[in-house]
Amino acid sequence: SGLITIDQGFKNTGSTTSAITFLDGELGILRYRGYPIEELAEKSTFLEVAYLLIYGELPKKDTFESFKKDVTHHTLVHEDIKKILEGFPSNAHPMGVLSSLVCSLTAFYPESLDPNRSWDKVNLGIIRLIAKMPTFAAWAYKNEMGHPVIYPDNNLDYCGNFLKMMFALPADQYEADPVVASALDKLLILHADHEQNCSTSTVRIVGSSQASLYSSVSAGINALWGPLHGGANQAVIEMLEAIKEDGGNSKKWLEKAKDKDDPFRLMGFGHRVYKNFDPRAKIIKKAADDVLAKMGVNDPVLDIAKELEEAALKDPYFVERKLYPNVDFYSGIIYRAIGIPTEMFTVMFALGRLPGWIAQWKEMRANSEPIGRPRQVYVGEVERNYVPISKR
Ligand code: CMC
Repeated sequence: SGLITIDQGFKNTGSTTSAITFLDGELGILRYRGYPIEELAEKSTFLEVAYLLIYGELPKKDTFESFKKDVTHHTLVHEDIKKILEGFPSNAHPMGVLSSLVCSLTAFYPESLDPNRSWDKVNLGIIRLIAKMPTFAAWAYKNEMGHPVIYPDNNLDYCGNFLKMMFALPADQYEADPVVASALDKLLILHADHEQNCSTSTVRIVGSSQASLYSSVSAGINALWGPLHGGANQAVIEMLEAIKEDGGNSKKWLEKAKDKDDPFRLMGFGHRVYKNFDPRAKIIKKAADDVLAKMGVNDPVLDIAKELEEAALKDPYFVERKLYPNVDFYSGIIYRAIGIPTEMFTVMFALGRLPGWIAQWKEMRANSEPIGRPRQVYVGEVERNYVPISKR
């Protein structure tokens, strides 16, 4: 009993206290463990950021070396996981494959189901997940292509290994382009955490029932899949392609986005929290320009993106509602330029967000938070009597 406040979409409801990520939507500030995202994107690496998010501090040299070694050591997955992969039709969306493979780890490591296991075991589970996620992600893509999977190469760094598993063919002497590897590393850093968003809240709420880390993260991947969340980067490119097919008339599509009778929204624009600009979008826009210039990419879809962005930023509808390009407007552009296919974009987001999910799960468990269980206000029928089927 007591007064229940309804806050659909949790627009004004805090679910927890957290010491991981600071975000100020009005001022466009994002910091992981106190460090500005701009500095991390410029100076750090994805694995170092992962360590920072999960363990709370930037690692000292020795600690970081052993963390990297551990992550590298666990990149291989059980051969039976390949059988699960092979059971998926090749047209399966890689996000569904990814969440299934992550959840399958509960079967290969059943100790992960024990909520009272030692910290060392919890930590090993965390390392395994960080190490195996790129293997799952790349294999989900290979499955889609109908190509043989490429096994992880432990001599390579995180991004080099991932790019090889994605793009190499079995007999190739593959070496990742350093421009591509560095753009990828930056993108992963920018996506690494974003406080209590839809997928992270999902991870925390599933984990609050003391379900395993793997099932909690698997649920997070599914939450991320939707077009209003991580699926937006895929939706952006699909939208740009549709505009191109339609003769490249971006003005017409801008009008469509403003039409309240039309459910269409300008994908990659607007954000629940950032109402002036998305600090990640600023960094990524520059990275996108750099990658396109260095790789000499000439793509009509990217010209449409520029036109649309310029027109929307001047349009009173978008200005009044404080709708700016978000991180996903540009991330899809970079992924496309570096050869990652559209349906893999959200998988890339998941790869980046993984350390955030793990850090948030770990914090929730360390704080012994209670099970997440929102209330409701019932608005259905009052009491009535059962009517036999013959009398209805
Ligand atoms: N195109 C056209 N109109 C929009 C858009 C858009 N992209 N976004 C918001 N609006 C309008 C909306 O119709 C509403 O207008 P009105 O006040 O006249 O009814 C007003 O702006 C406020 O929108 P809202 O839906 O109340 O805002 P929200 O905070 O609930 O939604 C959002 C945030 C991100 C879901 C939304 O802006 C959206 O759907 N954007 C497109 C999808 C997208 O790019 N998502 C990626 C988000 S960033 C990555 C991530 O965190 O996953």
